[in-house]
Amino acid sequence: MSKPIVINTDIEKGKINKNIYGHFSEHLGRCIYEGFWVGEDSEIPNTNGIRNDVVNALKQISIPVLRWPGGCFADEYHWKDGIGPRENRKKMVNTHWGGVVENNHFGTHEFMMLCDMLGCEPYICGNVGSGTVLEMQEWVEYMTQDGESPMSNWRKENGREEPWSLTYFGVGNENWGCGGNMRPEYYSDLYRRYQTYVRNYGDNRIYKIAGGANIDDYTWTEVLMRESARFMDGLSLHYYTIPGHFWKGKGSATDSSENEWYITMKKALHMDELITKHSTIMDKYDPEKRVGIIVDEWGTWFDVEPGTNPGFLYQQNTIRDAVVAGLHFHIFHNHCERVQMANIAQTVNVLQAMILTNGQDMILTPTYHVFDMFKVHHDAQQLSISADVPTMRSGEEELPKVSVSASKMENGQINISLCNLDTKNDAPVSVDLQGMKNQVNNVLGRVLTADENNAHNTFTQPENVVPKNLEGIDLSDTKLTVTLPPKSVSVITLN
Ligand code: AHR
Repeated sequence: MSKPIVINTDIEKGKINKNIYGHFSEHLGRCIYEGFWVGEDSEIPNTNGIRNDVVNALKQISIPVLRWPGGCFADEYHWKDGIGPRENRKKMVNTHWGGVVENNHFGTHEFMMLCDMLGCEPYICGNVGSGTVLEMQEWVEYMTQDGESPMSNWRKENGREEPWSLTYFGVGNENWGCGGNMRPEYYSDLYRRYQTYVRNYGDNRIYKIAGGANIDDYTWTEVLMRESARFMDGLSLHYYTIPGHFWKGKGSATDSSENEWYITMKKALHMDELITKHSTIMDKYDPEKRVGIIVDEWGTWFDVEPGTNPGFLYQQNTIRDAVVAGLHFHIFHNHCERVQMANIAQTVNVLQAMILTNGQDMILTPTYHVFDMFKVHHDAQQLSISADVPTMRSGEEELPKVSVSASKMENGQINISLCNLDTKNDAPVSVDLQGMKNQVNNVLGRVLTADENNAHNTFTQPENVVPKNLEGIDLSDTKLTVTLPPKSVSVITLN
């Protein structure tokens, strides 16, 4: 048994914004079409065209916020093509993703209806790359203006009397890449200009999110913060966990070696360094941490499943993805003062998905189960931890064997989440719960684990990897001991 992990149950480090458990869904592959939208005439059970099984599954994990319509797609999306009678909507080619025809059947009204059904906040990403300032201004007016105006009248003609409430609005996506290949100086000026016309109508208040850096492009953050911090509420950051090489082979989702497991973990943990360094630059211009980091794209990115359209980014999801998800949440918790939202890419059928569909069948991935287990952390207070966890070596790499995070809910319930990164060995853990004021009556644990590194759920075996009770938790006085199985994610609740 290694040194005890000390959790200071009476020292709160800040609120874990539930929006770090947010999601992203783009017009890409089978995410929107088939994943969410099947149309009213589909045989797949749906409500106004949106599939019921997917909505119910996402409600179960209390999805807090959903980003749409992209991604790269956002900077070639023209919102006016996606409103009005569906049969009249303009068709376009989705040049980024498979060159398929986009019929615009899923547009603003459908997205807002989806968010209503999910009970989550919409996060809309506007078009800077190929759109005009007027187009962006009118979109916000269309959605949020209450009284008389050309756009609100148009919305009413299209069947929606009341304005929608819209908080999160992104001014372009990956402006350094697919969103216009801009230099930070140029985008910074454009950001200032476009955001001017993202108006607050009536009582609606927009939280404006500027397009942030790619991975470790610290110059981008420096320039954006120096020139435009006072015009933004959030600055995005994109980082994907790719065990191989982006262009030369990312690695297989389900056929990976032991070594790739550890490379994946190491790369997932890199998120901590990225947030730390971007935050440090932001601190220079915003020491009060008013501007949030919005990690609006993160997750694993592997080679597509053999035989699927390379432009659709469809990949399976294993226990390795689940541990990656757990590690990311712990990193976001640790940076809860700065990280105000994160959106995993992407919700259904694309990249590190929560849900995979095949016709009318739907399965939940190991990543989904981590979102479910971790929902106890939503809006809870992050607790101070001092942990001297043992490390392990893989080739040249040194990695922590265990990752831990703890939070306290308003009702006093304490939740401890733990990942064992080791593929072969148990991790006996001892936790010293300091500062406990209330007596603990109940201790419950759930664990997600599997025998094989590449274990995953399939349409014929949908319950290969599902959470089970975590047995053998011992609590005496303030000392908790438990043994974490290899390659596992666990959550222990004390109340
Ligand atoms: O999530 C897939 C793509 O990755 C997004 O469209 C883009 O923003 C990023 O490069």
